[in-house]
Amino acid sequence: MSDLTPSARPAWTARLIRPQTDLGVGERAPFVRQTFTLDSVPADAELRISAQGLYRCFINGQRVGQDLLTPGWTSYQDRLSFQTYPVESLLRSGENVIDIWLGDGWFRSQMLWKKIAQVNTWGDQLGAIAEIRSAAGVLLATDHTWRSGLLPILKNGIYFGEDFDAREATLTASAGCSVDETFALATLIPHETGAVRELEALAPAAHFFDAEGRSVYDFGQNIGGYVAFTVDGPRGATVVVQHAEIVDADGVFNNTNYRSARAELHYTLKGDGPESYRPHFTFQGFRYARVSLPAGVRMVSIEAVPISSATRRTGWLSTGHALVNRLVENTLWSQRGNFIEVPTDCPQRDERLGWTGDAQVFAPTACFLFESHSFWVKWLRDVMADQRPDGAIAHFSPDPTRGHEDTAKGFFGSTGWGDAICLVPWALWTHYGDRAILQETFPAMRRWVDFVWSISNGPIVQPPRQWGERGFSFGDWLQPGGPTEKPVPTIGDDASATIYLYISTALTARIAALLGHEADAARLADRAAQVKAAFQHEFIAPSGRLVYDDQTSYALAIVHDLIPAHLLPAARRHFKATIARAEGRIGTGFIGTPALLPALVKIGEPELAAAVFLQEEVPGWLYQVKRGATTIWERWDAIRADGSVFDPAMNSYNHYAYGAVCQWLFEGVAGLRPDADRPAFRHVELSPVIIPALSPVQAAHDSLHGRIEAGWTVDGDAVRYTVTLPPGCTATFRPGAGQADVVVDGQAAANAGTGPVELADGRHVITFRLIG
Ligand code: BGC
Repeated sequence: MSDLTPSARPAWTARLIRPQTDLGVGERAPFVRQTFTLDSVPADAELRISAQGLYRCFINGQRVGQDLLTPGWTSYQDRLSFQTYPVESLLRSGENVIDIWLGDGWFRSQMLWKKIAQVNTWGDQLGAIAEIRSAAGVLLATDHTWRSGLLPILKNGIYFGEDFDAREATLTASAGCSVDETFALATLIPHETGAVRELEALAPAAHFFDAEGRSVYDFGQNIGGYVAFTVDGPRGATVVVQHAEIVDADGVFNNTNYRSARAELHYTLKGDGPESYRPHFTFQGFRYARVSLPAGVRMVSIEAVPISSATRRTGWLSTGHALVNRLVENTLWSQRGNFIEVPTDCPQRDERLGWTGDAQVFAPTACFLFESHSFWVKWLRDVMADQRPDGAIAHFSPDPTRGHEDTAKGFFGSTGWGDAICLVPWALWTHYGDRAILQETFPAMRRWVDFVWSISNGPIVQPPRQWGERGFSFGDWLQPGGPTEKPVPTIGDDASATIYLYISTALTARIAALLGHEADAARLADRAAQVKAAFQHEFIAPSGRLVYDDQTSYALAIVHDLIPAHLLPAARRHFKATIARAEGRIGTGFIGTPALLPALVKIGEPELAAAVFLQEEVPGWLYQVKRGATTIWERWDAIRADGSVFDPAMNSYNHYAYGAVCQWLFEGVAGLRPDADRPAFRHVELSPVIIPALSPVQAAHDSLHGRIEAGWTVDGDAVRYTVTLPPGCTATFRPGAGQADVVVDGQAAANAGTGPVELADGRHVITFRLIG
């Protein structure tokens, strides 16, 4: 039923009901119940169900499905997902009982931090709506006759964690329910992507007792998920589990970076032999769990259970460099831990939000590593729902500040972040050939680029410095500024904003042409040309130096062809000088970093790109791996060279943004680039960047057309590049600078072995020599 088009989907008979036992946010959790009788059980009996808050459903005591955190998280004002489950196997002839447990969830538990922390974001009362149908008709539907009661869940929240009293496990539905006729049934939509599910559990890799004698379990991997344990002990004893991503330099359990997220589990035993528990309505971001066991309580077993919406892996990349392999592994885990219903910035602190900037830089990598098409489509629909009337895109979606602008002002409209509305659909077109999402998001894209133009009513964007002011921009967030006593230049907000106005305007023009919107295509192409010319006039000196003279400026301007050809040689020199000034290290933040290495390769500096990528000092990708990271850090210097921890006020150890370098490992190093003119890897551009220190490199990607493989080995100056293309796929091999004598499947390439070479599907062996 769920895959039926809206008009074909049967109208809801059920009504949203609210339990009279609902004590409000942060109180003991309610449930609703109905007892109903069936003469017989139809084979096609199907439950469709949703809730305001989170739900977990049981029929005759058996849990329905294995999905987590249902109905999920969307911009609840406009969109509320429902799930559909076949329930024939759970029903029986005669009396049946259905229970729907309700948790505070994203709907009303704490959202945001510090002064802007809020509860009841989308409503202060929980509700459930459910019906069981078969072709013969409706067998059951939520209405005023349902009963309600209280759960053994004493308190729960996404950031808070969960308090569970097993002594209260026997459920009594002693109160009623009321029907909320004001609830908009039209907001109900089938859940648009795969469910959040448990992944393979992790056993403790190590265990130690801290100074207070508490057990600290190290699961060896930073995850988004929860612990599951079995304890044995006296009735009424309460086990407390705390979580942390790190132990500090002194080996002390440290979760100060969680800020106001309590992120704890409190389990009170019923005390009749071993009893197992895992939370229902929360998750944590952690590697370590610290357990306080009262006297007489024994930990029988404990494991860490990662949860994620990213369940089908589609990308593999290995090299001969252990730190680089771990970096790829860390990116995978950061995607798993931040793909929990929504693409979030982090899974541990009082944030965990669908930040648009992080999403736009990471989307291409995400599409390589995991099947994430519908995941992004769902999120883009929330981004569109949260778009402001003047076209501004929210900083994060679903947006808990929408409708709460009195307390959380101006969380929208930043260049580099809002551009996700153009760049993420483009990644879905390039990776999956999804024309429909381009069509669906095009109006929102156009409104966005018109909004950015309107910030300063012209091609040069002058963002105000003040957070919350219209057009405020994050610039190149977390761009390293060098030592405070002798800072290095960083990009100005006006330059980064103007560059992104160009990027999105040019892209939206291209998409308009692709969709046949000729007038828009012409208008926006013209505007993009204006922005480019204005950028060159405003930010490029006649000497070829970019005015802010920082790595991000050169990287973005080079990747997006904003530098006039005659000034490129000079700009190239200045760019290299910015790297030398940083002693060969990174000088870019969230938006500059994905462009840094591709820009160096583009100006014919693959060795310099390799050197910046492979250096192991801070700031650098491999520094954090060397320091034992198992996910990608938010900050380059989350843990300093002296082992001290950076200010916990904003220091997450699980942010995927800097993992966007994996796009370059696939497209640059392995040379496996999708072609936007023949998307979904129907045609592949092959231009490997050979970095001998990484040999052998092997990449594989399960595209819509099948598995593509590309890998190379180097022996002296001889490279052997092997490519396998699935049926119906073609490719073009384009040797890069310093690659010569190309031989493909034993045939010397044209143009004196400098190619390009067109390849049909199948396996190909390409050899060439590294020169110069
Ligand atoms: C978030 C980032 C976000 C940034 C923008 C941070 O708090 O964690 O993901 O991109 O704010 O300012």
